[in-house]
Amino acid sequence: MSLAQRDASLLELMDDPACDPDKLRATLRRFETINRLVSRWRRIYRYRIRPFLATLDRPARVLDLGCGGGDVIAQLAAWAESDGFSVEWVGVDPDPRALEVALTRPAPPRTTFLCADGADLLAAGERFDLVLSNHVVHHLTSGELDAFVGQSRELSRGIVLHSDIERGRLAYALYAIGVTPFAPGTFLRTDGLRSIRRSYLQDELAAVLGTPWHVEKSARFRLLAVAPGTG
Ligand SMILES: C[S@@+](CC[C@H](N)C(=O)[O-])C[C@H]1O[C@@H](n2cnc3c(N)ncnc32)[C@H](O)[C@@H]1O
Repeated sequence: MSLAQRDASLLELMDDPACDPDKLRATLRRFETINRLVSRWRRIYRYRIRPFLATLDRPARVLDLGCGGGDVIAQLAAWAESDGFSVEWVGVDPDPRALEVALTRPAPPRTTFLCADGADLLAAGERFDLVLSNHVVHHLTSGELDAFVGQSRELSRGIVLHSDIERGRLAYALYAIGVTPFAPGTFLRTDGLRSIRRSYLQDELAAVLGTPWHVEKSARFRLLAVAPGTG
């Protein structure tokens, strides 16, 4: 198996509408642990989100587009709260099975989880100061990605941040070993490894997104696509 080319033909088990619902719930719940270990939102919060929130002279509205089990919002909300920011958090996911898990977590104050996608929010006239996502970009076909990133910019009157894995042999090898204690009863092993094979390199993602997107390495094995909102 080579990681030189992105393998967009691989399907993730969690994307199968007929997948085992117990395993899917367990996977979505355990994303919290995986995200804490690999997604490095603390760093993004410190160098991107906190400085941005500090520029606003009113309570912020922040959207997590494709929020899954809702753990990224919960984590960001805790940091923002301890920094004294007033933020309304909205997490949306088009998959009702993900929403079911998000709705069972103890929600931070001023948090709403909805079963919706970007088009639904635009049709409802919603606007946010910051739109973000985690591990959604690599899931999407090229047509879906165009719509997703375009809608994310339209929904934001501030900035947009899409965080994802950067494909690589070392990331693959380390994940294959490191996921072992967390994998039983979930899709984490198969889907995580397929996710890495579906993910982009920095230059590939920059080329696919085009202007005005800027793709930076937010941490080891991590990419962050950044653009201004148009909303
Ligand atoms: C790997 S999960 C990541 C979930 C969560 N963001 C996390 O980091 O744990 C990808 C999520 O993207 C959602 N998704 C797929 N297509 C989407 C779209 N077009 N717009 C928004 N979310 C989407 C899926 O339903 C799924 O919950």
